[in-house]
Amino acid sequence: MSDFAGQTIIVTGAGSGIGRSTALQLAERGAHVIVADISDTAHGVVEEITGAGGQATAAIGDISDQGVVDKLVDAAVATGGRLGLVNNAGIMDQFAGAATTDDVQWERCLRINLTAPFLLTRAVLPHMLAAGGGAIVNLGSAASIRGAAAGAAYTASKHGVTGLTKNTAYTYGRENIRCNLVAPGGVETNIMTTSATDTEIDPANGLAAITPIHQGAIRNATPEELAGPIVFLLSDAASDVNGAIIPVDGGWAAG
Ligand SMILES: NC(=O)c1ccc[n+]([C@@H]2O[C@H](COP(=O)([O-])OP(=O)(O)OC[C@H]3O[C@@H](n4cnc5c(N)ncnc54)[C@H](O)[C@@H]3O)[C@@H](O)[C@H]2O)c1
Repeated sequence: MSDFAGQTIIVTGAGSGIGRSTALQLAERGAHVIVADISDTAHGVVEEITGAGGQATAAIGDISDQGVVDKLVDAAVATGGRLGLVNNAGIMDQFAGAATTDDVQWERCLRINLTAPFLLTRAVLPHMLAAGGGAIVNLGSAASIRGAAAGAAYTASKHGVTGLTKNTAYTYGRENIRCNLVAPGGVETNIMTTSATDTEIDPANGLAAITPIHQGAIRNATPEELAGPIVFLLSDAASDVNGAIIPVDGGWAAG
C-alpha cells in the first residue's frame, strides 16, 4: 500500500513502543517518517525502515524544548511532503496523588505530556494551513477520560491533551485539519522504564494494584494494536473523523 506517499509524518517518541510501531506501519504505507525521540534508539528505527526500503529521518532531542521542536519541524518541511503529526512521546508519573507529587514530577510530566504536544501542534499548523489541510493524532490514555488510571500529574496532563485535541479539531476543522486522540489502556511497551528518573518507580508502591489488568482490563495490548487505529486516523479513510476521543483498550473504559 502507498496511501501515504507524498506525506511526511512526524512521530514523537518513535524510538520505542507505540511510536516505533506507528512509524514502521506508516513507512510501509509510503510515508517519509520523522522518527523523533530523546533516545538514540531512533537511529535503530530509521535503519529498520530504510532497510525495508522505506523513508525515514531521525530527529534526536527533547521535544519539550522549543529549539528541538523548531529543528525537527524544519527537517520535516525540508522533505517537501504534506505534513502529518503524531504526538506520541510521553512519560508516566509515580502513581502519586496530589499530596505526594512534588514540583519536579508535576512540571516534568506536564511539560513532556502536554506542553510538548502543544509546541508541536503550534509549529506544524502554519504549514498545514498553507498546504490546505493535515492530520494530527494525539496519544492520550485511559487517564484522558478517567481518574483512576494513574497519578495526579499524568491524569491532569492526559486530560489536558483531550482539551488540546478538541480545541484544535474545532478551531481548524474548517481548514481541513483534523485532530483526534487515541486513548490506550495497558500496552506492552517500555513506558515504565523510560519514565524513570532519579525517583525510580517502586514496584512495591501499589503499582500492581493500579495497572489496567488489575482494574478490569481484559489484557494488555501490543503496540501494533495501537498503531493500526493511529494510522487509520491519519489516513483519508478518516476524512470526517475530527475531535474524536477513541479508547483503544479492549473495552476497559466501557466497564
Ligand atoms: N504503554 C501503556 O500502557 C500506555 C497506556 C496509555 C497511554 N500510553 C501513551 O502512549 C504513548 C507512548 O508510550 P509507550 O507506551 O509507547 O512508551 P515507551 O516508553 O515505550 O515510548 C515512549 C518514547 O518516548 C520517548 N520520550 C520520552 N520523553 C521524551 C522527550 N522529552 N522527548 C522525546 N522523546 C521522549 C522515550 O524515549 C520513548 O522512546 C505515551 O504518550 C503514553 O502516555 C501508553
